[in-house]
Amino acid sequence: MQFTHLTLRNWRNFVSAEIDLGQRLFLTGPNASGKSNLLDAFRFLRDVAKTGGGLQQAVKERGGLSKVRCLAARRYPDVEIAVALRDDSTSPATAWQYGLGLRQESRGQRRVLLSYERVWKNGKSLLDRPADNSDDQDDEARLTQTHLEQINSNVKFREIASAFEKTLYLHLVPQLLKHPELANRDVGGEDPFGVRFLERVMMTPEKTRRARLKKIEQALRIAVPELKNLSEMRDERGQPHLEALYEHWRPHGGRQREDQFSDGTLRLIGLLWTLLDGEALLLLEEPELSLHAQIVSRLPALIWKLQRSKGRQVVVSSHSAELFSDKGINPSEVALLRPRGSEGTVVELASEREEVRLLLEGGMSIADAVLPVTAPTRIEQLALFE
Ligand SMILES: Nc1ncnc2c1ncn2[C@@H]1O[C@H](COP(=O)(O)OP(=O)(O)O)[C@@H](O)[C@H]1O
Ligand SMILES: [Mg+2]
Repeated sequence: MQFTHLTLRNWRNFVSAEIDLGQRLFLTGPNASGKSNLLDAFRFLRDVAKTGGGLQQAVKERGGLSKVRCLAARRYPDVEIAVALRDDSTSPATAWQYGLGLRQESRGQRRVLLSYERVWKNGKSLLDRPADNSDDQDDEARLTQTHLEQINSNVKFREIASAFEKTLYLHLVPQLLKHPELANRDVGGEDPFGVRFLERVMMTPEKTRRARLKKIEQALRIAVPELKNLSEMRDERGQPHLEALYEHWRPHGGRQREDQFSDGTLRLIGLLWTLLDGEALLLLEEPELSLHAQIVSRLPALIWKLQRSKGRQVVVSSHSAELFSDKGINPSEVALLRPRGSEGTVVELASEREEVRLLLEGGMSIADAVLPVTAPTRIEQLALFE
């Protein structure tokens, strides 16, 4: 499954946004323009659909509907999220549409209620609540739950429920870089590339594991060419490790363990493994944060190399000039987020802006053509905080 379109209304700092997505999408914009908020719309759908999740829980985890609803919205508007999906990257047409409208009970427990929940498959309506459901109309409590989250009710669209649920969000916590002593420990339940990552590698069936490490090693040649023979092993205490040969380390090369790899290399390996380990949407939050600038400039190519073989869809948020210096990035893969004060943030694809298209045709990279457009208008004031 691949997402082909996202619609937001009154979602956080978006009054209204429409975005087309292909196999990869880069979000860029100044600080606080809503990159994380946009990714959060996909995470919200995941949280509604996931086992043990659900609508009430997903809203509660975000501090309630009043936190989620756009401050710039009119008085009683619904918060709306809608997506379109196709079956895979090779199928041409959008097959599925799913949409939610949310409002808050005006009295009593002030629960979150569905204004509507709608599903279409190939243009045919499969669900339209509460309009064509008399049970919903008789019993408002039913509107506190989506059919998406209910196994008995989502039979006809289980495929999209499962695609939502598998969405994966990765934020490579920079603290782990500054405090390497934490990197191999379990930090607050999130430890994407620490011990649990290495365990996950070890638990993968040998054939798959070898094949993946081989692919990763080949992809890494772009960024870390001296690293060879990437493999996994357990030490005498049973701890899992990654090993590789570093060609320039000693005259005849020396084997290094992951604790001798640079943090950037290790994180990159974790990222590339994750790309190969699953098929659902991957949300990557500012991957540049933990990587060396030179590696960041290779990141789009690296990601592309591995995601292509799997058909995995990736949405990346970034404001790294290095990342956007890759000339392989198509302007239709770049969404520009521009805050417009009380109107909220406006989203448009770089390909929709005439002046950007002209600059790119003139040989500029996205970094040259687009980042100045998204730079904060009063950047000179930042010096005050240094
Ligand atoms: N309900 C809301 N209405 C309006 N703005 C919001 C709402 N929720 C969050 N924001 C704003 O969104 C901004 C943060 O967006 P964020 O996605 O973290 O930006 P980025 O990731 O681009 O730095 C903050 O300025 C915050 O005040
Ligand atoms: Mg952010």
